[in-house]
Amino acid sequence: MLGLTTGRNRNICVTLSAGLLVFLLLISYSGLGTRESEAGADSQAHYGKKFLPQFANPFRGYLFASWEFDAVRDGDDYGLSDRQCSAAFPKLYADIDEMVSRRELNHVAKADFDSVEGDHVGSSIRAMIHRGELYIISEDGLADYQSRGFATLHAINRALMAYTDRAQLPNCEFRIYVGDMAQGDDTLWVYTKPVESDTENLWLMPDFGMYDWPEAMIGSYIKSRRDMRVIEEEVPWEKKTQKFLWRGIILPPYQSRHDLLRVAQDKPWADVATEVINTPDSHIIPMADFCRWMFVGDVKGASWSGGAKYKHNCHSVFVSHRLAWREIYTGAMVDSGPAQNWVSVLDDWSNLEETLQDLIANPAKAKMIADNSVRTLRDRYLTPAAEACYWRQLIQGYASVSFEPDFFESDNKTWRGTPFSSVALMGMVKWDSDQDSLITAARVRHT
Ligand SMILES: *[C@@H]1O[C@H](CO)[C@@H](O)[C@H](O)[C@H]1NC(C)=O
Repeated sequence: MLGLTTGRNRNICVTLSAGLLVFLLLISYSGLGTRESEAGADSQAHYGKKFLPQFANPFRGYLFASWEFDAVRDGDDYGLSDRQCSAAFPKLYADIDEMVSRRELNHVAKADFDSVEGDHVGSSIRAMIHRGELYIISEDGLADYQSRGFATLHAINRALMAYTDRAQLPNCEFRIYVGDMAQGDDTLWVYTKPVESDTENLWLMPDFGMYDWPEAMIGSYIKSRRDMRVIEEEVPWEKKTQKFLWRGIILPPYQSRHDLLRVAQDKPWADVATEVINTPDSHIIPMADFCRWMFVGDVKGASWSGGAKYKHNCHSVFVSHRLAWREIYTGAMVDSGPAQNWVSVLDDWSNLEETLQDLIANPAKAKMIADNSVRTLRDRYLTPAAEACYWRQLIQGYASVSFEPDFFESDNKTWRGTPFSSVALMGMVKWDSDQDSLITAARVRHT
């Protein structure tokens, strides 16, 4: 953004913006707690965008009091300011706040990392943020679990690079756990944790799928959202199939999925099937096509459902059992009242039929739930902008109750971490310079 206004031009811009800002503050200071330096950062950030039609009124971006999150203009913006992030997503940071208060008197210590054991080592990546740059310290979990580790590192890096003030972010060291479910006392950043968790060690981070999930044939998050928009145009609300749709794999321990099949299979109001990969009729439905149905089902597996965040992007009614696993947007989910944005049924699905029949008989209620879901989830808490805001808030919250990491080894010279840029190119954290790697410039080693 600032690249557009360099050197002398930039100084002139800053002077002009500062002058205008003072003027605007004088005529209509709104008392939102604006600190002048932050207001200056906002005005500058918006100055570079003045060519966009949305900013035809140049006053809009200058005065923070007039800024409101607009999904079309801001939804894919990875670089909102801290104040824009708080104003746009007030319910996004509950888990971070909870963890900070739990660790206020018991800070995360360096020793916590030296004692990590077992699966938590093999399935996690030890990393550090230093002066707003990402470094990888150990690659243990980098090639574990498909592309998850790389997706998460890229997502963190994206949230850092888009942020003008990244060098001011606090330093911290952490472990990214890429498995489904962490247990025990190790300090980890995790994709999910139980709704009723009282852990002092597991810090919720955004799902890797909010970056990209290529091997599931879903692709980047931006792409899946666009694919869904195409389907929504083709099949608006009135044209959606008035049935409950579910697809997924079944494993013996997934009790809730067995229960759902028992209740819904072969019912006229349902379209449910087990996916059987690599068979002629695999029953697989591409993720975007879920939006063709009016009622979209979701069932937990080993832990959280990787598909839920995509399904919430449909203009449909999301139907699931009681909330069991937290994700970053969980605080924005409402299952009753005028703000209801999804439908919860009993864990054994025994009231699913009755619930659906009620919704089919009350189309206005069903549409209200779907409309709320679009407004609150798709167009707010599940936007790429929200994901980037969450990462920066996590870094700030976690670092506030955590030790200051060592940048160097004990010789005070050798860097402990490898810059993320190198790790992204090499697909590994440590390598030797040999003939082979010179010839094969990038040998990305994902498995
Ligand atoms: C590294 O720096 C610390 C703190 O300044 C010092 O106590 C220590 O002796 C240094 N170590 C080496 C190997 O120079």
